Amino acid sequence: MSSIEIKSASQIERMRKSGKLAAATLVHAGRHIRAGITTDDINRIVHDFIIGHSAYPSPLNYKGFPKSVCTSVNEVVCHGIPGPQVLHDGDIINVDVTTYLEGYHGDTSATFYVGTPSAEGRKVVEVSRRALELGIAEVREGARIGDIGAAIQEYAESQGCSVVREYVGHGIGREFHMAPHVPHFGKRGTEKRLKAGMTFTIEPMVNLGSHETHRLDDEWTVVTKDGRLSAQFEHTILVTREGCEVLTAREEPLQHSETFPFAELGPLSTAAALRARNGGSASAGTALSA
Ligand code: MF3
Ligand code: CO
Ligand code: CO
Repeated sequence: MSSIEIKSASQIERMRKSGKLAAATLVHAGRHIRAGITTDDINRIVHDFIIGHSAYPSPLNYKGFPKSVCTSVNEVVCHGIPGPQVLHDGDIINVDVTTYLEGYHGDTSATFYVGTPSAEGRKVVEVSRRALELGIAEVREGARIGDIGAAIQEYAESQGCSVVREYVGHGIGREFHMAPHVPHFGKRGTEKRLKAGMTFTIEPMVNLGSHETHRLDDEWTVVTKDGRLSAQFEHTILVTREGCEVLTAREEPLQHSETFPFAELGPLSTAAALRARNGGSASAGTALSA
């Protein structure tokens, strides 16, 4: 049984700093997303920003990972390696940023729209965005780890999507990945109880088709078995008595994800916007089935 660390006040202060830098890095990366750039361009933008803020990009050389950020395009579920791949109009891309600052890691990711999104792209991206929000809403002292996964799985499957099983959220702090595992599927009332001072990520990978994945020969890139789209959002969370603090909360919206130049669709992420577009129903179903 591996126990879950409870962070001290001074550790939490450093987690806040690293989380804030990770969030700012993701906002910075989002401004550069457009057709014609390569995933290597994103790697350079992220690397230079993190180094420029006196921090280290945690993925670089982590268990042999060769780059400073993960870039996962379309059917790539996670751990995509930046390279010469050019982004095209209609692609979706997850950018997964992890910073190491003053001895602590901050881990956050989002999926962005390249140019004009397809209906399928919007569907899987908005379901994964909402799945993370619903998982976060379960977090408070006394709740169970299983409550988080249950909320995510119930919502994603209710929307006709599926949840990846092989890769899960994780404890985080002085190490990039530590106890506990935070699955994005499961049963309410099961697994360990959350305590104030625990820090972990929630990072649901949602697939448009089957949940099954396959790892490529590069030993990193994970793709959907059926080749259909996959999207992901991630935050680093601190459990508190009343709920949680999102340590990677952003000070500005993400360009090309939370905002993009299709005014008629409005902001896609908030419950209020979904209600407005549904004529009063809080369900995301109608809004997303365009
Ligand atoms: N950032 C990923 C996560 O959310 C892990 C990437 S590991 C790497 O846990 F080596 F691929 F960078
Ligand atoms: Co993570
Ligand atoms: Co991550």
